[in-house]
Amino acid sequence: MIQSELENQEDELTNIVSSKSDDEMIQFENNLRPGALKDYVGQRAIKNNLSIAIEAAKKREEPLDHVLLHGPPGLGKTTLAYIIANECGVNIKITSGPALEKQGDVASIISNLQENDILFIDEIHRLKSVVEEVLYTAMEDFGIDIIIGKGPSARSMRINLPKFTLIGATTKLSMLSSPLRARFGNMFKLQFYDKQEIQEILLRSAGILGCDINEKVADMLADSCRQTPRIANRLLKRVRDYADIKNNSVVDEKILKETLLGIGVDEAGLDHTDRELLGVIIDKFRGGPVGLNTLAAAISEEQSTIEDIYEPFLIQSGFLERTARGRVATERAYGHMGFDFYK
Ligand SMILES: Nc1ncnc2c1ncn2[C@@H]1O[C@H](COP(=O)(O)OP(=O)(O)OP(=O)(O)O)[C@@H](O)[C@H]1O
Ligand SMILES: [Mg+2]
Repeated sequence: MIQSELENQEDELTNIVSSKSDDEMIQFENNLRPGALKDYVGQRAIKNNLSIAIEAAKKREEPLDHVLLHGPPGLGKTTLAYIIANECGVNIKITSGPALEKQGDVASIISNLQENDILFIDEIHRLKSVVEEVLYTAMEDFGIDIIIGKGPSARSMRINLPKFTLIGATTKLSMLSSPLRARFGNMFKLQFYDKQEIQEILLRSAGILGCDINEKVADMLADSCRQTPRIANRLLKRVRDYADIKNNSVVDEKILKETLLGIGVDEAGLDHTDRELLGVIIDKFRGGPVGLNTLAAAISEEQSTIEDIYEPFLIQSGFLERTARGRVATERAYGHMGFDFYK
């Protein structure tokens, strides 16, 4: 019974770290999103700056300056966008870079907003350049110039738009063009969360889910959450499921250890792909440097998955270094993987 449950959990292993979400997972995440700045754990500097900017905008009865949120997946960019809308008391319209195909898409979405409303563009680094260009005047002058007619009789006409706030989110700031970047009055880089913040998020989520976990066990679980709220919530869901199956529903140390073992997440939060990645660099490439494309081929993962999902945490936690000549495993990685470090 337990073995088959463990196998089931193993199937869902990729869900813990990967950014892919099915409908159930999206619903689960939405339930756990804090709705107000005061409930948004951590990111203190961002919260301070935002609350001042929001108060000032409200006082002037103007839209908030455009906001760009960047940082690795699962750190709370989308959550923050919803919170900003709540705190400003305005509506938010959600779209994403790849979904905006034509200039007309932007024109029609923004024209349908009310004054001071928010347009949230997720994955803003994936905007087409024609779409990006109309955003420039929309963001700066709250207008869009459209060309009417063809050939010599063509003329340009300006459509006035309601004053709005654009919130853009991206995991890849470097892929954003500098003219677009320059049009954001507020730019915030989300940081990885410290252990105490992750523990706080776990306890908050446990309260909402009705999951019985004490502070000590939440503290232990926090070590495996890659300093990332999304992963914290997903791991909490797994341990809760496991506790339920065992007819006990209390998440204690034993349940926690068995769950993590079952889904292949170790005490540092690394999953089998992280360990494969580090193992290959150490074992096959003598610790590196090894190029991203070679590494991707060696572990059969896409380069973008390694770059966007796995690497940020491995670099942040000192397992991996990114050098001009490629990726290098650190002394910590050797130790963690059980290899002697000699260089
Ligand atoms: N500061 C926080 N406090 C409490 N919960 C948080 C916080 N940040 C994120 N979360 C939780 O983590 C989950 C993931 O956050 P979110 O979807 O906002 O991440 P994201 O940065 O938009 O990720 P992606 O880049 O993949 O779109 C949410 O369900 C939310 O409940
Ligand atoms: Mg998001």
